[in-house]
Parts: sequence; C-alpha cells; structure tokens
Amino acid sequence: MYGIDTDAPGASTGAVDLRSDTLTRPTAAMRAAMAEAEVGDDVYREDPTVHALEERVAELFGHEAALFVPSGTMGNQIGLRLVCEPGQEVLGDADAHVLTYEMGAAAALFGLSSRTVVSDGGRLSADQLIAQVRPHGDWHLTATAAIAVENTHNRGGGLVQPLGELERLFEWSRTAGVNVHLDGARVFNAHVASGVPLSTYGRLADTASVCLSKGLGAPIGSVLVAGAERVAAARLWRKRLGGGMRQVGVLAAAGLYALDHHLERLAEDHEHARLLAERLGVDPATVETNMVVVDDVPAPAVAEAAKAQGVLVGQVSARRVRLVTHLDVDRAGVEHAAKVLTQVIGDLAGR
Ligand SMILES: Cc1ncc(COP(=O)(O)O)c(C=O)c1O
Repeated sequence: MYGIDTDAPGASTGAVDLRSDTLTRPTAAMRAAMAEAEVGDDVYREDPTVHALEERVAELFGHEAALFVPSGTMGNQIGLRLVCEPGQEVLGDADAHVLTYEMGAAAALFGLSSRTVVSDGGRLSADQLIAQVRPHGDWHLTATAAIAVENTHNRGGGLVQPLGELERLFEWSRTAGVNVHLDGARVFNAHVASGVPLSTYGRLADTASVCLSKGLGAPIGSVLVAGAERVAAARLWRKRLGGGMRQVGVLAAAGLYALDHHLERLAEDHEHARLLAERLGVDPATVETNMVVVDDVPAPAVAEAAKAQGVLVGQVSARRVRLVTHLDVDRAGVEHAAKVLTQVIGDLAGR
C-alpha cells in the first residue's frame, strides 16, 4: 500500500516515525497549557482562547480575521468556496493537496469545477498558471475564479515556493479578477526556511488555510484567514459542515502554545532532514524544509525492512519513499534512521 501505513506501530512503541509530521503527540507542557485553558461555547462565540488564537493568527498573516477549523482540509475547502462560486473553476497544480488528497470535496460539496497544470515537481510558475486562466463572461467557457497555491508543497517534497512567483501571480490576479487561495498547511516551515515574513505570505493570498497540527505539533486544528466579510461567511460554512465546535479553547490553547514554542524550532527539523539526505546520498538541493524524498528504490520493500528495525517511512509510489522530520524525532532518532536506511537501501537498491 502506498501512502498511509495504518498497521505501523508508531512512535508509541519507540519507533522513529518519519511517515509524516502529523504524527506528533502533544508535549507535557502543551498538555498543561490545554488543561489550563479558559473556555466557553465557541458556537456562541464565547470561547476566549479561540478568540485569542484567531486574533493572533489573523495578525501574523496580516489579515482582518481568522476562523479556527478542525482540519486543513476544512480550512482549504471553505477557503476555496469563499473565492469560487458553484460552476466556476479553481485552477491548481496537478499535485496540489486540495485537488489530490481532499476527496474531491470542492466538487462533491460545493459544485466547484477544477483544472490542473502539471508543474515542475510542485514548483509554482505564475506564467504557467496565468496562461491557463479562462475569463469571466464568456458563455463558452468555465470561468476561472480562483488559483490554489501550496507552500510548502507536500508532493513537491516540502519545497518552498519562490517568492517572486507568488508576487507575480498575486499582482496579476488583481488585474484579472481572480482570487488566490493559499494552502499553507506548512507555511510555517516555508517562513522558517526562507525568512520571508508570515505577513508577506498572507498578503499574497485572498484566503489562506494554515495548520497547527503539522510541524507545529498541535494535536488538531487549522486556521483560515481572510478579510472580515469572508470570515463571517466562512463561519456559516463551517457550521453547515458540522464544524461548529463548543469548548474548544482546550484545542486552541495547544495552537497558541505551539506558536509560542514550536515555530522557530522548525529549523531543527530542517537541519535533521538535510542530515538524513546527506547520509542517504540524496541531493541536498532537493531538501528545502522537513521532507526528504528518496527515488528509485523499491518502496514497499524498503518500508518493510526499515520497519523491522524500528524506522517508519512513507511510501509515495512504488519507487519513491518519503521521510518527514518533526518534533518527535530527535537527533538520536535521525542518526538511527540514517544508519538503518543506509543499510536497507544499500541492500535493496544496491547503493
Ligand atoms: C499540503 C497539505 N494541505 C492540507 C492538508 C490537510 O490537512 P488535514 O489533514 O488537517 O485535513 C495536508 C495534510 O497533510 C497537507 O499536507
């Protein structure tokens, strides 16, 4: 099976779990912050900790408002719905998470059409997307209402989108009446790797979904940021989707804790990923953040053999393995994984 190995023993058994950065467990200090959180009914808009999180994230990204949602998928899909009407299209990269891994939600839930361009390994090219945009008001054509960008790019191996391309796309979109949605599940990694302020990434999108439950290490939660009117509409969509939540200050507290304590440390994950790449002979230029992609290996056999030695890896395809570093993998874990994987890949792929 490629993708998620649900039979894997996981970190609870002491394995070095490199399948994904979603696998982190809340630290003792994060759990303490959760336990102490002041709460209220957030559907009544009476949860002060949720308010604090929403205000904090809106400000970080330079937007008027924000909405706490249970998942990145919900943040993305509501974000897309805000900038695209039923019967209009979202344009994105063929490997974009919003169009690859979100169960066709834009079509299934909202009647949004989608079209894709095949990018160079996930790297954003403004010109490539702009060339495919279809105008409004032409009765032959499905109008392109929104362009989805992803930063960092998951299937692109954690690559950071070039700032110049993001700027060019956004500037052009202002003149063309097209909106830009950012899937910023790992925009915090992009920020730490590139030094580009979060507010700059925020300014270059009309709607953005950012995740607390990836590298930041919170157990759940994403935040959708946008203008105030759009966020008011998003609140209705969240409720329609069953995402109205009650005393979830306990979860928002984990997000606030993560922003305070786990943001700058992402640099450590990036360093660990570079170290793994070096040891495994992967071109370091392909490792921009916390993911290492190892190509041309028998992925199921590598995963199986590594698992037997307590190292879990993700299988992206039959010949591609992915390693993701995160909060629950320390330097010793990285060293152990490098040793095991060097031997396993050497045995199975002859290198
Ligand atoms: C790039 C990207 N966007 C969105 C998501 C969706 O997040 P969630 O699993 O919280 O729905 C993920 C999940 O891994 C992701 O990698």
